[in-house]
Amino acid sequence: MTTMLSLHVSHAAVTAVDSPLLAVFLPASTSGAISMPESLYSLDEAMQGALARTLARRDFRGGRDETCFLAGPERGVERVLLVGLGKGEPTRTAWRRAGAVAARAAVKLGTGAMHAHASDASPEHLEGLVAGLALGAWSYPDLRTPAPEAERRAPLANATVITRDDNASRTAFAAGEAIAAGQAIARRLGMMPGNVCTPETFVQTAREIAERHGNVNVTVLGPREMEQEGMGAFLCIAQGTPQEPRLVAMEYRGGAENDAPIVLVGKGLCFDTGGISIKPAPEMEWMKYDMCGAGGVMGAMETIARMKPNVNVIGVIGSTTNMPSGTAVKPGDVVRASNGKTIEVINTDAEGRMVLADLLVFVKRYKPAVVLDAATLTGAIVFALGHNAVGLFGPDATLVEEVRAAGEKGGEPGWPLPVWDEYREQIKSDVADLRNTGGRPAGSITAALFLQEFVDGYPWVHLDVAGTAYSQTDLGWLPKGPTGTPVGTFVEFVRQRAR
Ligand code: BES
Ligand code: MN
Ligand code: ZN
Repeated sequence: MTTMLSLHVSHAAVTAVDSPLLAVFLPASTSGAISMPESLYSLDEAMQGALARTLARRDFRGGRDETCFLAGPERGVERVLLVGLGKGEPTRTAWRRAGAVAARAAVKLGTGAMHAHASDASPEHLEGLVAGLALGAWSYPDLRTPAPEAERRAPLANATVITRDDNASRTAFAAGEAIAAGQAIARRLGMMPGNVCTPETFVQTAREIAERHGNVNVTVLGPREMEQEGMGAFLCIAQGTPQEPRLVAMEYRGGAENDAPIVLVGKGLCFDTGGISIKPAPEMEWMKYDMCGAGGVMGAMETIARMKPNVNVIGVIGSTTNMPSGTAVKPGDVVRASNGKTIEVINTDAEGRMVLADLLVFVKRYKPAVVLDAATLTGAIVFALGHNAVGLFGPDATLVEEVRAAGEKGGEPGWPLPVWDEYREQIKSDVADLRNTGGRPAGSITAALFLQEFVDGYPWVHLDVAGTAYSQTDLGWLPKGPTGTPVGTFVEFVRQRAR
């Protein structure tokens, strides 16, 4: 399915461990040197005090992303890697990040295996660490020719976490693994180029998830079924591309039969050229990431299928490619969405909202308790919030706050923007019910308000992940490329509702 690290648990004493690398996680001290936790006394003794001296000299201060390699004791552990958890009371997110830093260091060395010391970690922290180790070990080697055997560094295949031997730790470990598996799927789909990840790839991925866990039902709609549904908004985007569009619905029923489901919706543009309103060439290649909303839904469904929360969750994605061609939709064209509303296509590059419009109408049939949609919807969200926050939109401030809190826990900070009625003026059309762009001002807000026109009869929050689903720079703890967002937010939201 994907290059995934295999994770193991051990309750052994640090001095009894045989490993090429032992990672140890320490928070920054508020004053002076870090004091060594008791659980490391025996290791320090075996290292003849080298660990204590390193801390006392303040060679290592526990800062975020800070690392320090030490030679291990004569026997057992070959290298000790100190990893900083940063200032303040460490959070699950801090542990996740530190885990990823440690795993990336092991990948660079090519140790093939590692141990992580977490016998002092709370279950919450352990969950973060486990997810982080997998995030840091993740890669997408499929399209590269491997280096010659002699020069090849071993990929990180095994990580063993030294934990306490109790139920809470076991549950946390499994949760971390489940999140890691979901994020790996989202990242893999994101990394795939547009000629490899096609609408059919989402169908396959959904079927694989269903087969692997046996608790997910998959429904697929092609262009003919969409036609019957009257999905003129989605279909007009797909009409310029030779590949058939796909709508994929994945149903997980963990709650009672008539419990209203949580519905997760994702934008799955396998590539967005902009269509006839074509994008400039520089950096257009990044638009292979325009399916990260859909990738996030798939990833979240994998995690949920593993975690088996006692709620009903339905994931729905819409997938196509936005291409200029002889059959492509043109600026000025008017189409009718499945709720009957007509849309004037001002800019064919505002295609995500067209696809989502029909998806949001489609999901009404599930009588949802709540619908969350995630989309790499607007470049404008990068101007508003940069790469540090998911844009959150919705008419129900309490629900938006619930999503924000879930995102914070899941390591994906988000921030609300207003969806005032006044902005709706910008999406009024001269010929149709709506126009698909609202001009430059408040571009992310008018996009959200456009979506809201297709929301009917259920509570809803829109997540604009255009600035956060992938990174154009190496973040240290994560490489350049897909981040896994919005899997963390979706999963945390579902877990909170399940409790
Ligand atoms: N997929 C893009 C949004 C995007 C931009 C994602 C940059 C990631 C990085 C979306 O389909 C788009 O093209 N939006 C337009 C809307 C405009 C034409 C109203 C945009 O943001 O420029
Ligand atoms: Mn676009
Ligand atoms: Zn797009």
